[in-house]
This record gives sequence, structure tokens and C-alpha cells, in this order.
Amino acid sequence: MPDNLADPAFHADPFPAYASWRREGPVREVQLGSGGIAWLVTRYEDARQALTDPRLAKNPRGGNLPSDPIQRALSSHMLAVDPPDHTRLRRLVSTAFTARRIEALRPRITEITTSLLDAFPINQPFDLIDAFAFPLPIQVICELLGIPSDDRDAFRAWSNVIVGGVAYQDEFPGAATAMVAYIHELLAARRRAPGDDLLSGLIAVRDSEDRLTEDELVSMVFLLLIAGHETTVNLIGNGMYLLLSERERWKALCADASLIPTATEEFLRYESPVETATFRITTEPVTIGGTTIPAHAPVLVGLLSANRDDARFPDAGEVVLDRPQNPHLAFGHGIHYCLGAPLARLEAHIAFAGLTRRHSGLRLADPAATLAWRPGLLLRGLFTLPVTVTPG
Ligand code: HEM
Repeated sequence: MPDNLADPAFHADPFPAYASWRREGPVREVQLGSGGIAWLVTRYEDARQALTDPRLAKNPRGGNLPSDPIQRALSSHMLAVDPPDHTRLRRLVSTAFTARRIEALRPRITEITTSLLDAFPINQPFDLIDAFAFPLPIQVICELLGIPSDDRDAFRAWSNVIVGGVAYQDEFPGAATAMVAYIHELLAARRRAPGDDLLSGLIAVRDSEDRLTEDELVSMVFLLLIAGHETTVNLIGNGMYLLLSERERWKALCADASLIPTATEEFLRYESPVETATFRITTEPVTIGGTTIPAHAPVLVGLLSANRDDARFPDAGEVVLDRPQNPHLAFGHGIHYCLGAPLARLEAHIAFAGLTRRHSGLRLADPAATLAWRPGLLLRGLFTLPVTVTPG
């Protein structure tokens, strides 16, 4: 019986298993709870190869859309399809996410960051995820898309279920239906009153130029909303956990802000917010790292495992805040490489700069507490990060 990745013991600390799999059987079948069997790729070089191999496709049935309207609306986005659809869909939004366009958001992201930091309670425990790591990226992606951020608690709940995998199997249909209905309402409101935002731009591309279908439009908004916040929450949360759990690291970053860019890359590597890339399916038998995966098999590329591979990273098991070279795979690789990487990096840099400058007195509320990781294989992030701030 293959190892079960839905096992809570694996989830609480996957690193010993990943390390032993990288040594023995680095491309292996694993069990996903009751959700079936998949092949898992655990080594760095194999992961890079897998992510650029066109025989590992997203939708090898080639445009055979699911008949269920909700499923269709959730799986017609760029991350669920192959070229040429992938190329067309990604091109429609890529100009909004270039490094230059994203850099222009710096003043507004700084403003949002400052107002969140101003609201931290002093000398009493609070959850850093709720108070900071979640509201920052959600506010930014909502403003970028042009949607009201008042609804964020509702879609935080839906999105938690949708990305949570087998742990939330029973709640999935309800959350998916509610999220799709919500996006339809958003689109209807924007169609009545278009603005100068990404959502209005996408509607124009749909309605005037017919360059994407209604399902693709709904799905694009869904992907940008989910990808735009679920991951960055974890980058900020995991980074702060790594900093506050070793006081020396926190002091080093507070003393020298020039470390923030390399430290951010190290958090991405060491506690990668996306644990495994989304499923690929083999179109034919594919040999990776000496193992042949049969045709039509689901494949997961282990980004977190690849990023801990000591064949690629010296001292892979250490957090090195000024690691000089860090070609991690936290944003993926190949044609589906993260579109939002410049945005995620900018948000993280502003967040860590603000936190260290403004609240150097931050500490874990209970350093002895064991923190719980959110369920599911896709994302690696904490449910809560209880902290306190003492002045100074
Ligand atoms: C794709 C990670 C933030 C939008 C991806 C992939 C990864 C990733 C690993 C590829 C998945 C795969 O190949 O299966 C991350 C991490 C982030 C982050 C670690 C934050 C720390 C963002 C943000 C956005 C975003 C802020 C903004 C909208 C996307 C999109 C794709 C994607 C649209 C699909 C690209 C494609 O299919 O061509 N991301 N992401 N991501 N990400 Fe991100």
C-alpha cells in the first residue's frame, strides 16, 4: 500500500518522509486519502523536468469540458488548460501583472500595510494571520480586480474549502456553488457600471471582442481571487513563523532591512506556500528520474520537497536569510510559472519591512505551542499565528 499523504502525521511534519523518498523511490505512487492514487515527484531536477514536459498536461482530453456548470466555471482558467488555450488566456491578463505595472502599486500597498500595522493591539495576544497576513493580499487583489473587499470574509470561507482538498470534501459543492454565484453577481454589477479596473477590462474583452467564453471569464476571476491571496497569506505567515520562532533571525532582519529580499526567497524555499503543484496527467508513458509513469496517470510535482533537496541547495535544511543563490521552485516552472510572482514579492517585501520597522517587539504569544498547518496537499500555511507586541 503506498504512503498516504492525507495522514495527519505526514501533514504535521512531511520533511522526514520527503527526505527518505528523495533518497529512495523519488518518483513514487502515493495515496491521497480516499481520493485515489497519484504519482509524486520529489527531487529538484526531476521536478523542473516534469514542469516543462508537455506530455504532463492539464487537460489531455483537449477541450472536453465538464458537463456540470459549476465544475466548468471552476476549471476553465489558464492553470487548468494547455496551449493554445493557456497561451490565449494568460496573454489576456499578463500585461496587468508585469513587474513595472506591479511596482506602480507600491504606494497603495504601503498605505494598506501601514493601516493594518497601526491597528495592532499592544501587550495582548492576537492572530497575525487574521490581523495582517490575510487582509493585506486580499485587499490588494480586490482593488486590482475592482471588487468590493467587504465580501472578503465570505470568500475566505469558500476559498478555504475549495483549496482544502479531501479534508473538506463534503462542504466542497456548497462552497463552489456559492463562489460561482458570487462571481456572476460581481460580473453583472460591473456590466451595469464599468470602471477602470481589471474586471471591467476582462468583461470588455468578453463582450466586445469575444476573446473568451463566459465560463472562461468566471473562471479567470475565480483563479485570480484564489491564487491572489491564498498563497501570499502563507508566504507572510510562514515567514513570520520562521522569524519569530528563532529570535536571532527576527533580530537580524530588524537590524538590517537589506536582508528582506533574500530572506523572502528563503521563506519561499524553506516553507513553500504551494506544497505541490496542481495535478498534471500523462498523455503517454513518461520516464522521470529513471521511473516510468504510465499513460493517463495523475502526477503531483512536490515543490516543497524539491526546494529542500540537498542535491541542489547547500544546507537545504537550514534557514539562510542571505542565501546568495536561490533558484527555488516555489512559483512553479515552465508555462504555468506563477503570473503573480512580482505582486507576491512586492507585497512580502513591503510587509516584512513594515513589520520589522514598526513592531520589532513582536513575539510568539506562546513559543512552546505547536501550531497547526492547514489541511490539504496544495498549500502549506498555518491556520493561526498567535503573537503579542510589546512596545520597542
Ligand atoms: C500559478 C505559486 C501568488 C496568480 C502558480 C503556480 C505556483 C504559484 C506554484 C504554478 C502551479 C502549477 O504549475 O501547478 C504562488 C506563490 C505565491 C503566488 C507561492 C505567493 C507567495 C500569486 C498571486 C497571484 C497569482 C499574488 C495574483 C493574481 C497565479 C496565476 C497562476 C499561478 C494566475 C497560473 C499561471 C498559469 O497557469 O499560467 N502560482 N503564487 N499567484 N499564480 Fe501564483
